[in-house]
Amino acid sequence: MISIRRFFSSLPATEVHQKIGSRVFEVDSMTNATPRILSKLDANLLTIPGHPLNRIKTKIYDYFSEFHHQDMLDPIVSVQQNFDELGFPQDHVGRTLNDSYYINRSWMLRTHMTAHEKEMIVNGHISFLMAGSVFRRDEIDATHYPVFHQLEGVHIFKGSDYSSSTVPDIVEEALAEKQPEHSAEQVRFALGHLQSSLDGLLRHLFGPTVPIRWQSCYFPFTQPSLEVEVEYRGRWVEVLGSGLLQKSFLQGSGLSTDQHLAWAFGLGLERLAMVLYDIPDIRLFWSKDPRFLSQFDPSVKDEGLTFKAFSKYPHVARDISFWVSSEFSQNSFYDLVRSIAGDLVETASMVNLYQVYYANSL
Ligand code: PHE
Repeated sequence: MISIRRFFSSLPATEVHQKIGSRVFEVDSMTNATPRILSKLDANLLTIPGHPLNRIKTKIYDYFSEFHHQDMLDPIVSVQQNFDELGFPQDHVGRTLNDSYYINRSWMLRTHMTAHEKEMIVNGHISFLMAGSVFRRDEIDATHYPVFHQLEGVHIFKGSDYSSSTVPDIVEEALAEKQPEHSAEQVRFALGHLQSSLDGLLRHLFGPTVPIRWQSCYFPFTQPSLEVEVEYRGRWVEVLGSGLLQKSFLQGSGLSTDQHLAWAFGLGLERLAMVLYDIPDIRLFWSKDPRFLSQFDPSVKDEGLTFKAFSKYPHVARDISFWVSSEFSQNSFYDLVRSIAGDLVETASMVNLYQVYYANSL
């Protein structure tokens, strides 16, 4: 049974503790991770041989073969790891109950793999890749799922590394947004190294002639920050976010001043797999249907592999309307739908919202 109260109100739930795996967590007014979401914690899609996500992950690991590879990190992280240490402002939308899954006020399901950068650096890793599942509350449709997979890479330069000159051709505004502590040469060198590494990766994945576009953007933990798009089958697709890690973050991770130059990138594996294997719906990655699994059997060669659609359920549309209080959050409703109907519901979205005002006449 699902407690409706847990979905729609901020009242503390009646249970005081919750057991997740072998750990026990306190339940408080922030708790909003549903049993259905928690049931996905040990799905481990990335480790299934032949699965499209495993194929892409392996290709990226192969490309960065000298990097340390890690994909067994616990998806339950502290709010400090996921947001505070990375410089997310207190009012960042990602922190809201509407956007993220909280175990309680201190612990949450990671919303990105960046949450693990600090522990990896503290453990002495200099060049590393990490892959894992990340969790975000979202609407229900073919391109959003509350659990998806990210792969993140970090490369830290040593003091003398940037003596040679690699000149990047990425947007001038990115170069201009350097951190005050970095010299122009350091930034040109590091961005040049970042760009050639990621351009190389994208050619490795999409083919040697794929058009690539770099644009400046914003992340709280990198400066400058850049996102990268590729043109594939006539369409520009955003594939990754990247940038030079904030010096304050590197310092906070225990690195000495001669190691305060580092790049990082993060990419969504489903997004890449959907484009590369022509997979039309993000929910297919969770499919146990042999018509899906057989197409991605480990024995099937990767070259020329694209998904062949099979018939889905006949389409049924329903409109529902109901009264809600000011505490209502749309994503809570979508979680309720998911918890009851699983992945059978193809799309759920809000059609209309009318505000009703009461006049109090005594
Ligand atoms: N964490 C970012 C995201 O989830 C991606 C990113 C990783 C951006 C590393 C820059 C550097 O969107």
